[in-house]
Amino acid sequence: MFLAHISLLLQPIVLLSWLTSPTLAYTALSDHFLKLVPSGGDDFDIDHGKLLAPILIPRVPGTPGQVAAQEHFVNFFRSELPSWSIEWSNSTGKTPVTGDREIPFQNLLFKREPPWVQKGQSNLLTLVAHYDSKITPTGFIGATDSAVPCAILMHVARSIDRFVTQMHDEMSALGEGGTVPMDMGVQILLLDGEEAFLQWTETDSLYGARALAEHWESSQHPATSFYKNPLDQISMFVLLDLLGSANPTVPSPFLPTHWAYRAMANIEQRMRQLNLLESSPKRPFLPDAEKQVSSFGRGFVEDDHIPFMRRGVPILHLIATPFPTVWHTMNDDGAHLDMPTVRDWSRIVTAFALEWLDMMEVEPKDEAAARM
Ligand SMILES: *[C@@H]1O[C@H](CO)[C@@H](O)[C@H](O)[C@H]1NC(C)=O
Ligand SMILES: [Zn+2]
Repeated sequence: MFLAHISLLLQPIVLLSWLTSPTLAYTALSDHFLKLVPSGGDDFDIDHGKLLAPILIPRVPGTPGQVAAQEHFVNFFRSELPSWSIEWSNSTGKTPVTGDREIPFQNLLFKREPPWVQKGQSNLLTLVAHYDSKITPTGFIGATDSAVPCAILMHVARSIDRFVTQMHDEMSALGEGGTVPMDMGVQILLLDGEEAFLQWTETDSLYGARALAEHWESSQHPATSFYKNPLDQISMFVLLDLLGSANPTVPSPFLPTHWAYRAMANIEQRMRQLNLLESSPKRPFLPDAEKQVSSFGRGFVEDDHIPFMRRGVPILHLIATPFPTVWHTMNDDGAHLDMPTVRDWSRIVTAFALEWLDMMEVEPKDEAAARM
């Protein structure tokens, strides 16, 4: 990703999307529910953890590491989360360092919608990370960039899954659903080709994200659909990047989605007060809850959200800024991660997803039955 200071250009588009996005039901998770949110524990172990360890390899598009990472994601969803649909969005492109060869860029899309919805009917919490790694320096792992965010999203998917099932079952039994705010689903986009091959430019970066945003813009739903195309269905595009180093600071760059940032910051604060987080950072991961309106719009980081933001999609960008000191160096590997920070992010993002999806409706009552 790339630090830019030209945000004024994009601001009006985002404001527009803010004014037109639907209001969703939103009930904060209880303390009891927050306490049940799992961290992923040993599954984030860098040597043997089943979520993270397999992604701590070079994952450059067009190399075997790319295929190995894809297999890891697909096998996980196939075997553990069979209710999620799996879709590919494949494209190819030339890069400034690979000559005439067409390099494959292959996004993976995992989605869970209410079973009763028609195409274009559900609004989708959209959780996003890139899974490719940078071609240089040779052997670069990209643990924070973005192996950890990918593993966190796998953990979120499996942690929310049974509540999504219960919610859908109960709504079906009651004959609910079929109204726009209630038809909520979730999708996870693992994007390819985020990194520049030579140097960050408009055409040498964001290969997968650009292809997907373009494709979705031109994929019209049937005329009777509530949402006209898949971009329209995104209730919030939550992008995770550069997470896993100690003492992260994640600012709130966009006024139109600041309310969602505040919701997540509030979750972090409540979890800290309840002693549910392991890390003890110098200040909160999300310190900008009280940011003043006049302080917005001074700059932002270019990342996978750009092609979507330009098309009016609301964005919550969770990226450590300043970037981790290991950024784009050989030190961005498993050994330099701060595991309490990794597990805390995984708790915070899981709780945010549960809250967004209104899971207080299916809050587990009985402690014994509630083990997540
Ligand atoms: C996309 O690429 C993957 C990996 O090569 C392949 O398995 C899949 O069938 C392709 N999907 C489509 C729709 O082309
Ligand atoms: Zn990077």
